[in-house]
Amino acid sequence: MTLEEMTLTKVREEAKKKLMGVCGVYKICDGDAMRICQGQSYGRPLGFGGIGSGASFNNNVLALKKLKLKMKTIGDHFEADTTYDFFGRELSMPIMGASIAGINSFGGEKVISEKEFCRSVVLGCKDAGTIGWRGDTYTYSLDESYGIDAIVEANGLGVKIVKPREQKVIIDFFKKAEKAGSVAVGVDIDGCGSYAMATHNKPVFNKNFDDLKELVSSTTLPVIIKGIMSLDDAVAAKDAGAAAIVVSNHGGRVLDHTPGTVEVLPEIVAELEGKTRIIIDGGFRTGYDILKALALGAESVLIGRDIVRAAVGAGIEGVRLQMEHLQKTLAKAMKMTNCKDLTEVNRFILY
Ligand SMILES: Cc1cc2nc3c(=O)[nH]c(=O)nc-3n(C[C@H](O)[C@H](O)[C@H](O)COP(=O)(O)O)c2cc1C
Repeated sequence: MTLEEMTLTKVREEAKKKLMGVCGVYKICDGDAMRICQGQSYGRPLGFGGIGSGASFNNNVLALKKLKLKMKTIGDHFEADTTYDFFGRELSMPIMGASIAGINSFGGEKVISEKEFCRSVVLGCKDAGTIGWRGDTYTYSLDESYGIDAIVEANGLGVKIVKPREQKVIIDFFKKAEKAGSVAVGVDIDGCGSYAMATHNKPVFNKNFDDLKELVSSTTLPVIIKGIMSLDDAVAAKDAGAAAIVVSNHGGRVLDHTPGTVEVLPEIVAELEGKTRIIIDGGFRTGYDILKALALGAESVLIGRDIVRAAVGAGIEGVRLQMEHLQKTLAKAMKMTNCKDLTEVNRFILY
């Protein structure tokens, strides 16, 4: 495929061929029981879908669908400004690539190698003016840290999220990310329920308040705590010194029957707005979805499964196209709800 021929539709068609049996690359990606990614409750391993029945994955999408945008167009003409400050870096949009790992387990090199996946996310996001976060899984180690290698290649423009491994191992990963010049580091604390780590006998742990404090003080970088689905955890993470939290149920992959992430966001915002950065993910597919979470008080949104499809379909270019598409639809949504920039987005743009 030449660059001229490449559109997001073509990227997704390519991804559909490569991800056969893993992901149907449906128009609606919602973890519905009829999608080919689902089926874990009937004994299949966790693939690309949600854990168990898929209810948590599905609830992310359903909860977003329930929120409605209020159109308001009378006024002076403008094009919306989507620029966003993330720890002192000006990004083109309040949208970043989520920390995802283990894509080579969906068919190996003929789908995409883990190294190329990491490069695609980090460099594709960079080309779109934003940041790709990198994840962690059982095949990663301090010697084979594909995510950090990609961050080095992007001159530090990346965020490294480590599974809740032993404290010393996390701290060593943080040090390595620090040397790479990463923008921030973090832990997906809900990774203590990781299917991939458990099935490959890689120990992951619940983290207590003191563990979190130790992690925060172990590095000069901002520390992000990802996988927050309750006010108690949000407050504990903030009190432990988290520079940001991510309201997330891991795309519905760690606990069946959680609510959608936008359902728990408002009470967390009510308590913590202005005290720590509040980021969210789970089921966001367009700028219209993203604007809903921003209206409820999240400052930015991470994109999971669509980034995988884009990377598998067309590598760095695919991810760039995906992120640019999201930026454009967010700008359109902001224009149509009378938000000139992110400071003008508030809950009154929702019904
Ligand atoms: C295949 C797969 C692998 C993932 N791996 C990680 C990981 O290594 N670390 C992490 O913090 N989250 C991981 N996640 C969760 C994502 O960061 C993100 O929370 C989720 O995908 C957002 O939901 P969405 O896919 O509906 O956008 C993974 C998700 C998927 C689908």
